[in-house]
Amino acid sequence: MEIRQHSEAVGAQVSGVDVRNLGDDQFAELRDAFHRHGVLFFHEQSLTPKDHIAFAQRWGPININRFFRPVDGYPQIAEVLKEPDQTANIGGGWHTDHSYDHEPAMGSVLYALEIPEIGGDTLFAGMGAAYAALDDETKERIAGLHAEHSNRHVFGAEATYRRGMDNRLGNPDLATQDAVHPIVINHPATGEHLLYVNPGFTRRIVELEEEESSKLLWSLYQHAMKPEFHTRWQWQEGSLAMWDNRSTWHFAQNDYQGQRRYLHRITIEGTRLTGAAT
Ligand code: SIN
Repeated sequence: MEIRQHSEAVGAQVSGVDVRNLGDDQFAELRDAFHRHGVLFFHEQSLTPKDHIAFAQRWGPININRFFRPVDGYPQIAEVLKEPDQTANIGGGWHTDHSYDHEPAMGSVLYALEIPEIGGDTLFAGMGAAYAALDDETKERIAGLHAEHSNRHVFGAEATYRRGMDNRLGNPDLATQDAVHPIVINHPATGEHLLYVNPGFTRRIVELEEEESSKLLWSLYQHAMKPEFHTRWQWQEGSLAMWDNRSTWHFAQNDYQGQRRYLHRITIEGTRLTGAAT
């Protein structure tokens, strides 16, 4: 098994391994790489839904997403699908999965079944590198602050995003979840300081007035959107990506109109997040 860094800030590509047959030592090495790099990328996997579930369960209990349409017969697996006649894609903006939950999903495991000939890459951003590169004044300013995250404006009945998804998303009546997390968290496994706000689900900084909150959030987003914190994953059929939702953002590119893109996603349970001291 070989693990090679994918960019300076985030991600590692793993080769020479079939994730269906990982020994305990290999799995321990992968877990360590996952915590250090935030995303693991694999090509040339050959997973049935059962294999996908078995791999995900090695990392922890599965968290069943309440909004995505599940794969027939496998409620643990969410469909990430765009048909040729659909224009909006799932995940087409910077976000991290489930930050609206009190105990946000630890990770997501996405497996590619059908990939457009051109386009459909996913960008990832490293929130450890983004935090580390903030100036001292900003670090001091955000230390001890908390942000509210919500799913109402994304998955709720009135949400424009959900309405653009046809029947790919459901249960708008369950979009009632808000959660408050520290803006700077400790990675639960490594203790690394991570910037934990994202444009998809973060609504406001609870300690600040609305205008100040929006300005500060926007400046943090602009900072984390700098390409130096990113990497780009080009999918093939049989590719797998597993990302850490605490330490990364991701953004599915919607540049393949008229083509089909179909993946299976499983999310893994996480823990309550704790704030980092400066
Ligand atoms: C997601 O946001 O979970 C989907 C990512 C992708 O389709 O690349």
